[in-house]
Amino acid sequence: MKTYLVTGAAGFIGCNFVRYIMQAHGDQCRVIVVDALTYAGNLGSIADLLEHDNCSFVKCDIGDHDAIAKLLAENDVDYIVNFAAESHVDRSITGPRIFVETNVLGTQNLLDCARFAWRLPDGSYPESKKFLQVSTDEVYGSLSKDFEQAEPLALDDDLKPLADGRTDMKTYGRNFFEETTPVSPRSPYSASKTAADLLVLAYHETYGLPVNVTRCSNNYGPYHFPEKLIPLLINNILQGKKLPVYGRGENVRDWLYVEDHCRAIDLVLQRGRLGEVYNVGGFNEESNINIVRLVIDTVARLIKENPDYMKVVECDPALINDNLIEFVTDRPGHDMRYAINPSKIVRELGWFPTTPFTRGIEHTVRWNLEHRDWVKSVTSGDYQSYYEKQYNR
Ligand code: NAD
Ligand code: TYD
Repeated sequence: MKTYLVTGAAGFIGCNFVRYIMQAHGDQCRVIVVDALTYAGNLGSIADLLEHDNCSFVKCDIGDHDAIAKLLAENDVDYIVNFAAESHVDRSITGPRIFVETNVLGTQNLLDCARFAWRLPDGSYPESKKFLQVSTDEVYGSLSKDFEQAEPLALDDDLKPLADGRTDMKTYGRNFFEETTPVSPRSPYSASKTAADLLVLAYHETYGLPVNVTRCSNNYGPYHFPEKLIPLLINNILQGKKLPVYGRGENVRDWLYVEDHCRAIDLVLQRGRLGEVYNVGGFNEESNINIVRLVIDTVARLIKENPDYMKVVECDPALINDNLIEFVTDRPGHDMRYAINPSKIVRELGWFPTTPFTRGIEHTVRWNLEHRDWVKSVTSGDYQSYYEKQYNR
């Protein structure tokens, strides 16, 4: 039986992670969710999980020393998994300070609380304990593109048997972020995540705290807040609203289905070597403009195939086509390409991202079509004024 303290689990990836471990481990896990419920946190995302006796929720800021120390004193926590963060690059450009407060100081507070709660009299830590920092490939900075169009990605021979039949891997370049790539963040968001990573690794070196850092690429899937590209596109399409594409839509990201990511985190918790960083990527690079077209096509196809979905379309379905695309002013300092080499986690822990992009996008669009209440609830209130400010500048 393991006790997980999962911060930020009212947000996108955290709620999927709690869902994943409760399904994978059943009664063998106990989960304490800690979340400050910022604009990005929504208790509705975990309401069904909180009905189980082994899952509880505490509303708390990760920077609140007394509250976190008390939680750790009262519960024999094995794993702290830190998802809590300010996570949106665009918001970090308009208001960077909160990114430092939450992502840097909040993480440092969690580390200190873990250090004092877990340390044994001889200064060592029990083998069962681990602090896992969920980080991002954005700490490595930006890569250039070598190809205009995506080209097939050749897997190393020893990885092929693990590929689970996937043949759709793509890349726009020859260089990839490795765990050994020097950090070089370029936005306030990625700078704050980098600072947090370095603190986590420093606590391992200095105090011996058992830690891992995972650095993943762009996630997508259910419960994704519609300020990020993919859920924003789906939400706008269903309302017949324009689809804002920064610059010319040439920027490339590596996309990872959220459930594949959750499986990776759980494996690193159980078997990751202490003090190590693990890159987690989808072997799936795509340009923004291709994603926009794929999402439009997928929505159009699914509503045509299933008349029930028509009920949630708020515009003339004939308008769902490429004419919705609108090229808008680019993001300042917009990173051109993120591409991750996840071979280390594949080789060491036998993990592989098994969800092909077209299948993951179809699941994500279906989920959004079938959960309009969730989308409406998270986009009421502050979302509207954020959207006005961000896109009608
Ligand atoms: P999210 O914005 O959807 O959720 C963040 C959650 O953290 C929310 O529930 C929010 O209420 C909570 N939170 C914010 N400040 C807090 C505080 N001070 N104390 C406690 N809770 C607080 O984020 P996400 O997309 O689920 O990302 C989770 C983690 O993964 C983040 O650390 C992010 O940097 C990292 N990450 C995300 C992606 C991605 O594609 N979404 C990619 C790479 C890394
Ligand atoms: P986003 O989902 O914000 O993730 P990140 O900035 O962490 O990669 O953006 C993904 C890509 O989509 C990024 O290149 C910026 C671009 N983008 C748009 O073109 N339009 C939008 O409205 C948003 C939110 C993002």
